[in-house]
Order: sequence, then structure tokens, then C-alpha cells
Amino acid sequence: MKHETVAGLDIGTTKTCAVVAAEGPGGLEIIGYGEAPSLGMRKGVVTDLEETIKSIEAATEKAERMAGVHISDVYVAITGEHIRSTNNRAVVAVQNEDREVGIADVRRVVDASKIINLPADRQIIHALPRYFTVDGQDGVEDPVGMAGGRLEVDTHIITGGTSFITNVLKCVHRAGLESAGLVFEPLASSAATLLSEEKQVGVVLLDIGGGTTDIAVYSNGGAIYTSTIPVGGSILTNDISLGLKTTTAEAEQIKRAYGAGTPDSADRAFPVKTLDGRATKEATTAQLRQIVVPRVVETFRMAKSKIVENVPRDLVLGEVVITGGGARLTGIEPLAEEVFGLPVRVGLPGAVAGLTDALKQPEYATAIGLVLFGPNGGLENHEYVKRSPSVFTKIRSWLGDLWN
Ligand SMILES: Nc1ncnc2c1ncn2[C@@H]1O[C@H](COP(=O)(O)OP(=O)(O)OP(=O)(O)O)[C@@H](O)[C@H]1O
Ligand SMILES: [Mg+2]
Repeated sequence: MKHETVAGLDIGTTKTCAVVAAEGPGGLEIIGYGEAPSLGMRKGVVTDLEETIKSIEAATEKAERMAGVHISDVYVAITGEHIRSTNNRAVVAVQNEDREVGIADVRRVVDASKIINLPADRQIIHALPRYFTVDGQDGVEDPVGMAGGRLEVDTHIITGGTSFITNVLKCVHRAGLESAGLVFEPLASSAATLLSEEKQVGVVLLDIGGGTTDIAVYSNGGAIYTSTIPVGGSILTNDISLGLKTTTAEAEQIKRAYGAGTPDSADRAFPVKTLDGRATKEATTAQLRQIVVPRVVETFRMAKSKIVENVPRDLVLGEVVITGGGARLTGIEPLAEEVFGLPVRVGLPGAVAGLTDALKQPEYATAIGLVLFGPNGGLENHEYVKRSPSVFTKIRSWLGDLWN
């Protein structure tokens, strides 16, 4: 792959998506993407190696053809119930003789924050600096160049089950690709859909996929809590199929056509194929609503209780942003507003050039976010990233080991 291109691979529960971007004069630009059905994943974890490899190969080939470049290494999205997150804090003495914080000090303190009690079957995926403290002054976003003798960092640490990660990487390797780094999915989705102001004020991101709903909570610019729940759009399709006694394919179509509707919209009848596909019966949008609403509300409540249990009581949150294919459900926003008691918007991928209308859809947030988040690692909010002449070359080199 040409040096100035960057690629992402999102192996989802319903689809695999590969995205290639190139660093142009005006910044990053998407130059190719490819999508293929994903049949070898369930709730974010690999259940069939061969199917997953096929899916990666198909998506990557399409992206390569469109971009006209060979993809050799990719940032790989990862999710699943094996992912855990925690916050940690570390302190180091500034080593510079004139007591000025250097990049090496930042690196050392972030590394030190990675020393946590980790069972043998788990590994760190991210250590994301939330803020630094220099000689007791906290809330420092960018300590580089500041005078001080004692540097502290508060980090958000994300870990995953080694065997689950290994299986994903096995598929990536067997599809002929190298991993440039793993990215927990909601971090990628956030990079594509959230504004830095939102992260500053306090925001919840929910990526509702087919098999999982990924959660990321930001406050003061950094991630404070991340998690995932094993419920997504597939279970809703399943509910509809059971409730209306029809096939999964028909239920999926019905879900996409009518969704949760709105409480005040007039009741409408629509045809439903019977299970054997030979006859048609009738159902109504009110009936559908009775199936869809409780499941969607339950999913939001599960996400909310996870957040409430894990963030400080006094945390200020201004908004909920929903993305992922599940965010396309008609009538989903008022349901989220009701559960969270916060304004809700659907997050479409942005912040990068070359996005066609086809790509400006919530289901591509993760894949597009990978090329944005991947090279910048966890330091997207920090000034020394913005100051750096080339984010790609400089930051990548010293961030390399933050991925491990
Ligand atoms: N118009 C729509 N209305 C309701 N649901 C929709 C609509 N379009 C897509 N979906 C749902 O979005 C889900 C797929 O979303 P997405 O592509 O983000 O998942 P994924 O990334 O493959 O899965 P995961 O992130 O869980 O691994 C499916 O359950 C699909 O039914
Ligand atoms: Mg997804």
C-alpha cells in the first residue's frame, strides 16, 4: 500500500466493510470502499473462520478496485461482550533537565497507566489519555512544553479477551492483510460522527448494529466509559418474525418499511407473507409497534443502566447520538429521548472528504471512523496532534505501542 493511504476493516455481524482513504492536500479523503455480507460473526465475535475470511476478501477486493491501490494493512474494528473498560491514573517524574514536559514523558506516563491487573487471557486494546495533571494542576489537555516536575495522566483503558481478538486477527491474516491496530468499535464510530464540542460537553454514543449495541461516553473531551451489549437490530427482526409469524427476510423488510412508527401516526394495515410464503395476511402498524417499541426501549434501558452504574453520579451529559444501521429505524429518536431524558440525534459519518451519499449512512460510521481514529490513536483531542506537521508519520510512530 502507498505510504499515504490508510485503510479500515469493520467486520460486523451483518456486513463487512473495508474503507481506504488517502492523505491529500486538504486532509484525509475516502478513495474507496467495499462491502460484503458477513455470515461468520455473531454478536461481534467470530463463529465461522472460513465465512469471515471470505467476507473480508470480498469487501477488501471491492475497496481496492475502487481506490486503485493495494491494501496491505488495515485498522481492524473489534467488539463483543469480552471487551471491558476501566479508568486508571499514573504518575511519572519529568525527566527533562529544564523540567519541561516532553513527548517522551507523555509516552512514559501513558505506558505506566497500562500497568493494571490483567488476567492472562486478556490484553489491553487502548489506553486513551483523558487529561493530564502537571504539578498538581489538573485538566491539562496538552502537557508538552509545559514547565513541571511531576506528570500525571488519567486514562481510559479498554481490554479484550485474547482468544476473541486472535480469532479476528487470524481471519484478517488469512485474508492476506496485516493489522495496523485494533480499534474498539464505538471509538471509531465516535470519530466519524461526534463533534469535539459534543465530547467536551458530555455525550453518549450508541452504535446499534446487527448483533451488538456499542456504547461510548465522553466528557471533557475524552472517553470516560465504553462498553457493549449483545443486543442489536437482528433481535428486533427476530421479534417481528415471531410476533407476526413470518420469515426473517419478510420481518426484516417490514422492520425497514415501518419501524416503530410514531405514536400519533394513523394506524395502517400492511400485507405479511405467511411462514411458508404461500399466502398473505394482514398486520397493522399498531401491532408492529407493540412488538418493536418494548425491545427498543429495553435495549436503551440496558445501555442506560450500564452507563449509570459506571460513570460518576455528577457527570454532565448533554446529548445522545445514535448510529449504526439500527439508528435507521423509523421512530427511534423519541424512544431514546424518553429513556435517556436527553436530546437525541442520529449520527451520520462526516469529518472527511470523499464521502458519497451512499456512505453518509449510520451503518458506515465504524468503517469510516477507523481511518480517522486509527492513525491518531487515542490522542485525537490533544493539541500536540493538531500541531504535528504530519499526523500520519509522527504520531503513528510513538503511538505504535499504545495499541498493544
Ligand atoms: N431502515 C432500517 N430500519 C431499521 N433497521 C435497519 C434499517 N436499515 C438497517 N437496519 C438494521 O441495522 C442492522 C445492521 O446494522 P450495521 O450494519 O450497523 O450492523 P453491523 O455493523 O453489521 O453489526 P455489529 O455492529 O452488531 O457487528 C441490522 O439489524 C438491520 O436490520
Ligand atoms: Mg457495526
